[in-house]
Amino acid sequence: MTAEGEALAGGMANAGAVFRRGEWVERPAPRNARALHAHLLALREHGFDAAPAPVGLTADGRERLTFIPGDVALPPFPDWAMTSSALASVGSLLRRLHDAGAAVAVDTHAEWPRDLADPQGGTTVCHNDVCPENVVFRDGRAVALIDFDLAAPGRPLWDIAMTARYWVPLLDPESAAATHPHGLPTAARLRTLADGYGLPPGDRTELPHVIEQATEVCRAFVARRVADGDPLYLQALAERGGWERWDRVQAWLVDHRETFTAALLD
Ligand SMILES: Nc1ncnc2c1ncn2[C@@H]1O[C@H](COP(=O)(O)OP(=O)(O)O)[C@@H](O)[C@H]1O
Ligand SMILES: [Mg+2]
Repeated sequence: MTAEGEALAGGMANAGAVFRRGEWVERPAPRNARALHAHLLALREHGFDAAPAPVGLTADGRERLTFIPGDVALPPFPDWAMTSSALASVGSLLRRLHDAGAAVAVDTHAEWPRDLADPQGGTTVCHNDVCPENVVFRDGRAVALIDFDLAAPGRPLWDIAMTARYWVPLLDPESAAATHPHGLPTAARLRTLADGYGLPPGDRTELPHVIEQATEVCRAFVARRVADGDPLYLQALAERGGWERWDRVQAWLVDHRETFTAALLD
């Protein structure tokens, strides 16, 4: 505990800069914080309260949000976070976000970050970064999404693809071993996420392709950070096996396209 509060671990982009002060969290405000806070407040008015409530912005460029009590899984991810009921609950929470978001007009004047945004665009503000570190659990169920820094308009299907990458996870077994419990049944878990969300059949047909697109966008995001010399991304890339790992993951996705389609539609 410092004068700034209790440092919260779990993120990379704002590592060491997120603090809890009692009921509030203070963290560096994203550039579009005003529009994002307005969006989060509008979501609450439409019944989605499963995200931090914006409290305000400080003069020194930080944002204040409500702290959400519960458990956040950090890598290596514990078994409780990777059960199929936990996964289904992540799907249904994402659905609630999108259903509420469908009723909120997107602020088209806001500078939504392009980093992980759906290249096709869309009319729903997607979270885009629903990794385990950004989901709060209570009693084994996902109760809130946090860290909307990369949220941007897109198709809900894009957000499902992004979420699946982290939560299934959509990694070849060698890559998954570093962070996830051994032997998770990937195709069955993709189905569980889609069922938890209530994904319609047409979207299920498209999902494996969108997952491959989303993976390319994530790789390009890392490549930009690395090219900019960002030390955190340079280190993470080196520790996680470099570009070879990305090649391996992408080849694995292509190999499993039909397995995923079958699991989603059976
Ligand atoms: N509003 C919140 N309620 C509860 N926990 C939070 C909240 N905001 C952040 N945290 C915790 O702090 C960690 C890092 O915060 P986050 O905002 O995700 O940082 P980063 O932008 O670096 O990913 C999260 O993984 C979570 O454990
Ligand atoms: Mg985070």
